[in-house]
Amino acid sequence: MIEKNGKVVLITGANKGLGKEIARQLGGLGYTVVLTARDEEAGQVVVDALCAEGHDAHAVRLEVTNPEHIANVATYLEEKFGKLDVLINNAGISLEWDGQPSDVDKLRRTLEVNTIAPFAITERLIPLLAKSEDARVINHSSGLGSLTTAENAWDQVSDFMAPGYSSSKAALNMITIIHHKRLAPQGIIVGAAHPGWVKTDLGTSAAPTEVADGAKTVVSMVTVARDAFPAAQMTHMGKRLPW
Ligand SMILES: NC(=O)c1ccc[n+]([C@@H]2O[C@H](COP(=O)([O-])OP(=O)(O)OC[C@H]3O[C@@H](n4cnc5c(N)ncnc54)[C@H](OP(=O)(O)O)[C@@H]3O)[C@@H](O)[C@H]2O)c1
Repeated sequence: MIEKNGKVVLITGANKGLGKEIARQLGGLGYTVVLTARDEEAGQVVVDALCAEGHDAHAVRLEVTNPEHIANVATYLEEKFGKLDVLINNAGISLEWDGQPSDVDKLRRTLEVNTIAPFAITERLIPLLAKSEDARVINHSSGLGSLTTAENAWDQVSDFMAPGYSSSKAALNMITIIHHKRLAPQGIIVGAAHPGWVKTDLGTSAAPTEVADGAKTVVSMVTVARDAFPAAQMTHMGKRLPW
């Protein structure tokens, strides 16, 4: 039996990939994990597996671009837990690594999921986060959103820097700073994580990092002492990355 620590974590897009693994690792540490998935059944399959291992896990349906779903998640958390300690904005997409040129539709769809949705979800959950004594928001960003890397190391990243994906994460980084500055006075601290290049559906099988290691950056941002949290920064395995 895993001893619960009383902290509630919401992880978006946790039916597979990094979100699912972050849920598994945090559940093992005693956190109550609320997984969201746009496919309700897929979320429940993960929850059933985690509960069978002794975790305190729950699933809620969330298509991150749907305002009604976001409102339902807030109501669910309010009624079931009365607070939220950690929000992990993890759900993300990349539509541009198919060898085809990007286009306006891909750019718009990517920004909707990777940038606008995390902003909307965080805004909606502020009242519940404000009820926590140690509220944290972690945005799953990417080194591919680094302006400095685009400027200084273009040759190394040019195959992966895409207009939609990279600009969606660069914008998410700016939202991370702005949310931290605005929300810290209410006790809500905000940071951005880069997981590495990780073997998931998004990262592909060519990635060098196993998902268990890729989850560690976010997990450490949840568990680290509050005064050591990398607020208003993008970090990877405890190291600050350039914006
Ligand atoms: N893997 C890497 O190398 C890497 C590197 C840097 C950053 N990241 C970031 O890490 C995060 C997780 O990525 P991953 O590698 O774990 O990718 P993944 O395995 O493809 O998982 C992505 C998750 O996001 C969900 N999602 C996508 N669009 C959604 C929507 N509109 N509404 C609700 N959920 C949605 C997916 O749900 P469905 O199953 O329903 O599609 C899935 O659960 C992303 O933000 C990604 O940008 C990953």
